[in-house]
Amino acid sequence: MTLLHIGWDFLKRKKGAFGAIIALQTLHVLLSLIMPAINARIIDDGILPENVPLIWRLGGVMLGIAILQILAMVGAIYLGAKTAMELGRELRARTFRQVQSFSATDQHKFGAPTLITRTTNDVTQVQMVILLTFTVMIMAPLMGFGGVFMAIQQNARLSLLLIVVVPLLGALIFFVIRALAPRYQIQQKRIDRINTLLREQLTGIRVIRAFVRQDTEREKFDKANKNLRDIWLQIGFLWAFMMPAANLIIGIASAAVVWFAGHLIEAGDMQVGALTAYITYLMMIMMAVMMSGMMVMMFPRGDVSAKRLQEIHDVDPSVKAPASPKSLPSGPITFELDGACLQYPGAEEPVLSDINMTFTPGKVTALIGSTGSGKSSIIRLLPRIIDATGGEVRAGGIPVTELDPKELRSRMALVPQTAFLFSGTIASNVAGSPSSEAAADPERVKRALEAAQAWEFVDKLEKGIDAEVESGGKNFSGGQRQRITIARAIYRCLPDESGVRQADLLIFDDSFSALDFITDARLRAGLRSFVGDIAVFIVAQRISTIREADEIHVLDAGHVVGRGRHEDLMETCETYQEIVSSQLSAQEAR
Ligand SMILES: Nc1ncnc2c1ncn2[C@@H]1O[C@H](COP(=O)(O)OP(=O)(O)OP(=O)(O)O)[C@@H](O)[C@H]1O
Ligand SMILES: [Mg+2]
Repeated sequence: MTLLHIGWDFLKRKKGAFGAIIALQTLHVLLSLIMPAINARIIDDGILPENVPLIWRLGGVMLGIAILQILAMVGAIYLGAKTAMELGRELRARTFRQVQSFSATDQHKFGAPTLITRTTNDVTQVQMVILLTFTVMIMAPLMGFGGVFMAIQQNARLSLLLIVVVPLLGALIFFVIRALAPRYQIQQKRIDRINTLLREQLTGIRVIRAFVRQDTEREKFDKANKNLRDIWLQIGFLWAFMMPAANLIIGIASAAVVWFAGHLIEAGDMQVGALTAYITYLMMIMMAVMMSGMMVMMFPRGDVSAKRLQEIHDVDPSVKAPASPKSLPSGPITFELDGACLQYPGAEEPVLSDINMTFTPGKVTALIGSTGSGKSSIIRLLPRIIDATGGEVRAGGIPVTELDPKELRSRMALVPQTAFLFSGTIASNVAGSPSSEAAADPERVKRALEAAQAWEFVDKLEKGIDAEVESGGKNFSGGQRQRITIARAIYRCLPDESGVRQADLLIFDDSFSALDFITDARLRAGLRSFVGDIAVFIVAQRISTIREADEIHVLDAGHVVGRGRHEDLMETCETYQEIVSSQLSAQEAR
């Protein structure tokens, strides 16, 4: 019972609130149980013998009890809702933090959509069950057993009726819920399906239009939509059946009570007041049975959600800081790959074997290779996005596994292969601080943009570096996005107020592909004057981008097949010559 485990884990830290909720709920139920008995006394001892002062007195007592009842209920619901929402917030935060500590591999195991659903929908589901527990689950048994006890007090013989009616209602609810439970599961899957389709259509809207896929997409959506409607109709039908059926049983039971009580009253074995009280208790018992039934249905759903959350919490992140991490020397430092190998989990073959590379301060190291040869995989090894499965990766002479990943990552600046911008402003994107302007140093932001050849277009924007960036940078062109992403990396390589450069390694993962040749050349020509003597690592497909590098590595299917300067490789490396001739002929053809 994962749900109980998660719930208890939280509640034991909230003992005060939990105790108060139970006390208030108990008080509320006890008061509800006393009310009908007082009412019976008013009828029997007040109205029938026309004892008006007693009616006033008992009426006053009832009013007092009613006010207390309201206060208890308000308090219980307020505390219950507050505690349940706090649990929700805590679960969401915990799940989010855990997902943040995931390595690329861990994340891959789940996939983004389910991580999103789990952090939002499943948390809500758990929260809902806990809330219901506070309001219903504590109350139902008290009300049920209390009701039976009080009913027997009023009239024991009449209570034989309960032996027939309660199981009858119980059976009805049991069967309806047994039919409902699997349908709720199907409903959940169908909602997921709608979500998936919607996501796909929103993100792929351009592709869908360009390839005129609207009709196919519409059909897919219609089908999913119809399936969801069907299951909802079935659920609606079951509910629509249950309510009147339960009312029918309760109605017949009340009629039977009146009929039998009529005889008892006639014979002088029962009083009229007791009859009204009895009917009220009967209603309470029935309510309790129905509420328990709903709880029985909610609980497994909540438990499924709790299990889905627990799965995330149970993951032991595959990349994490060692118990006592070493710290890096001050820069500039050298980074090395020493015989590094990489095999992705589940893959049959290693993507990288025996990679030896050194990134020396002040030097430009380049990597070229066809698509899928493993270039981005090499880059992933450096900041420990994934750990090498063989060999060693070192920073400043220390194996990266002995460092805190946070410190390691703070010492490099990466321009990823696909430009990614956050919503905010250009300044907040470049400086990487959430509350943009305040924390960013505008001069440094400007220099970074200049270095990335982005200043020319940012300067033309009305608000300059404070111009708004939409989520994913959708309001910029591909090349503009790429240049802002480059500026973000360069920003970390510029000296801060105290003259210290944060990053010691600047990595470009095929980041010049969306730039035209001239911008590309200008950017590289000016780069050194901005970033000083840190190590630069350029991954590219275009020969022109890397031909001036101090050392070029040629990657072919995960193996380095050549290294040296452009001129050397032109003579010694066949793969390199092929790449060069393919690109030259392409250029000549134009
Ligand atoms: N997370 C992953 N899990 C399993 N295999 C992966 C993963 N990421 C990449 N690969 C595989 O590793 C190989 C190399 O991928 P990588 O992204 O390093 O190529 P690349 O050289 O950067 O290509 P491109 O020039 O297209 O960017 C590919 O065959 C790819 O299928
Ligand atoms: Mg790549």
